[in-house]
Amino acid sequence: MAHQILVLHGPNLNLLGSREPAIYGHLSLDDINTELATQAAGFGCALQTFQSNSEGELVTRIQQAAQDGTTYIVINAGAYTHTSVAIRDALAAINIPFVEVHLSNVYKRESFRHHSYLSDIAVGVVAGLGVAGYLAALNFAAHQSQS
Ligand code: DQA
Repeated sequence: MAHQILVLHGPNLNLLGSREPAIYGHLSLDDINTELATQAAGFGCALQTFQSNSEGELVTRIQQAAQDGTTYIVINAGAYTHTSVAIRDALAAINIPFVEVHLSNVYKRESFRHHSYLSDIAVGVVAGLGVAGYLAALNFAAHQSQS
């Protein structure tokens, strides 16, 4: 059975394209989601994407994933990566494997970005590859066997 993949985008990622383009690139979130949709279709996977600036909305969407047939999650939690026990707990609760993605190489940046509440429970982490990181994570997820 093909994977049903949920890509989650956290706070301020709605501003991609105009937000610090030297760090995050020139593509908008719509551009990234379009690239993801094209790749998912090629793999025969179902894809849903969701962006929120709200920690609670992200937690609620993660909880819904346990009920809606989602089989893999790709998440760029933005700044909540570095602060949110609630998002970590939601991901830990639902037992759906996930890949953590960052457009920028967070390890080249301020030290507060070096800690992630998600990495130690993620299947893997991709950072610093821009949109290619999302596509790599989607490619990886699409080709994992399902339990
Ligand atoms: C980010 C890195 C985070 O530190 C930052 O707060 C973001 C985006 C990235 O994609 O590089 O909002 O997750």
